[in-house]
Amino acid sequence: MPLTKDCRFDIGQSTAAGGRFSLAGLWEGEALLPQFHKPQLGKSEKTVKRILMTAAAFVGLFSGVTLISNLPVRADSNDRDRSDRDREDEEKLEIQQGFKIAPVPLNLKDKDVELVGLGSYIVNAQSGCNDCHTCPSYKPPNHNPFPVPFGSSGDGQVNDVGYLAGGVDFGPPPAMGGVTSANITPDATGKPGGLTLEQFQIALRTGHDPLDPKNGLLAVMPWPAFRHLTGRDLDAIYAYLTAIPSATPPPVGMHCKNPGQ
Ligand code: HEC
Repeated sequence: MPLTKDCRFDIGQSTAAGGRFSLAGLWEGEALLPQFHKPQLGKSEKTVKRILMTAAAFVGLFSGVTLISNLPVRADSNDRDRSDRDREDEEKLEIQQGFKIAPVPLNLKDKDVELVGLGSYIVNAQSGCNDCHTCPSYKPPNHNPFPVPFGSSGDGQVNDVGYLAGGVDFGPPPAMGGVTSANITPDATGKPGGLTLEQFQIALRTGHDPLDPKNGLLAVMPWPAFRHLTGRDLDAIYAYLTAIPSATPPPVGMHCKNPGQ
């Protein structure tokens, strides 16, 4: 009986799909069945039809009950799906934006491209690393966006030369205990600031400088805030820092004073 087989298949299939579809599918199945079959309904076929309809009714009842009893759960999981989707979309946007605002060409060879984009977004749109780690932070002579006397009311174009290469002095002169922001561009082996991912995480999570033999605490550097970043965000920042060009800070005599100069 190919029809029985087909119908069972139809019903079975739509039931397996669950929820709204199974009900709609069943309705369709029932409505189609008589027209499809009317011209040659013999006795045994009628019996088959009756059995089929009874089975269909049971399946309908079952899937209806399943649908109803699952409604709150389904609503919940739909909501969850939606918020997951939003988060994914949000991250996609951040990645796109990250690539758009990166002020330097990026080396994406052998890199996790999405992480690099996300890292650029965090570094360039959220964390202001540039204001402390690039000297001067904005392209000279007149792109500094801050008003006089701090800057020149420029358009804020970031200085791509020496981008994140450090060289900004904070506090008393370095010889008297002040600190200078570090060069966090890739070293000769490709490690940002010479740090492995693990050392980088230690620095941002604990404020301890893994490259300082005394392992002293980093001053000025906002690790008290950055330590709350998620592991993925730290990975992303690190990935981005491995993709930017290596650069050297200006000579000591030309260091910048204060952030955002
Ligand atoms: C308010 C200024 C400021 C901001 C913003 C800032 N840093 Fe720093 N950072 C510093 C200073 C200053 C040091 C050196 C501190 C010291 O030597 O005690 C430093 C040190 C570091 C170090 C340690 C380097 C080493 O050799 O151990 C890393 C890594 C680092 N910063 C990464 C970042 C990243 C990534 C961002 C943005 C997400 C950032 N910093 C934002 C000021 C800043």
